[in-house]
Amino acid sequence: MARDKAGGNTCRVAIDGPAGSGKSTVARKLARRLGYTYVDSGAMYRAVAYRALQAGLDVNDDADKIADLAAQLHFEFRPVDGQPHLFVDGEDVEEAIRTPEVGNLSSPVSAIPGVRQHLLAAQRQMAKEAGVVMEGRDIGTVVLPAAEVKIFLTASVEERARRRQQQLREAGIQRDLDEIIREQQERDRRDSSRAVAPLRQADDAKKVITDDMTEDEVVNVLEKLVREVVER
Ligand code: DC
Repeated sequence: MARDKAGGNTCRVAIDGPAGSGKSTVARKLARRLGYTYVDSGAMYRAVAYRALQAGLDVNDDADKIADLAAQLHFEFRPVDGQPHLFVDGEDVEEAIRTPEVGNLSSPVSAIPGVRQHLLAAQRQMAKEAGVVMEGRDIGTVVLPAAEVKIFLTASVEERARRRQQQLREAGIQRDLDEIIREQQERDRRDSSRAVAPLRQADDAKKVITDDMTEDEVVNVLEKLVREVVER
């Protein structure tokens, strides 16, 4: 286990789970409470997609070039107004990577083996120093198989669809719940059956089902798990 600047024990926390499980918010809050580095691995795949778009590369024809591009990028998470932002080669890309266009492209980009290989190296490097909370799909299984704390965060498909519907409503978009449930089921099927880094719970991960929990309740549970490990 690593030590922080004050000489205390720190650990690596791997949080995996499907979209809508509350993973991102919970991981951010947990990292802040613990004073750990936060790594959003999905943001890194989005950033490669964003840079590929900027470079005019095509995901089908230019897979090798996209992998080369991924190898050359330097990633860093830095706080901006108290929130972690991803910086790529010194540029704050946090807003640019959240567009639907980049989101859609990040899925095929994340299936390019060369891209995964380079991001895996970058992610492991980020977890080398002191405490880290890293979230994604394959953190407990592939990126940090020796993480001291592994969480698989999930919620029923209905609950995740309700949360998505609420998010859309807040953005002024009304959508039928049954339709969102169907989309969610389709996405779950795709995510867990794909050949490259499928979404799968690590055998030694603790499963936390967030249906009837508030975000803070989830963070409390996770914080307790981490404290048990570092204070052992
Ligand atoms: O969680 P997200 O929507 O920001 O992720 C963006 C894309 O990257 C999404 O298609 C899933 C993929 N991803 C992945 O393949 N492996 C990870 N560890 C994290 C995300």
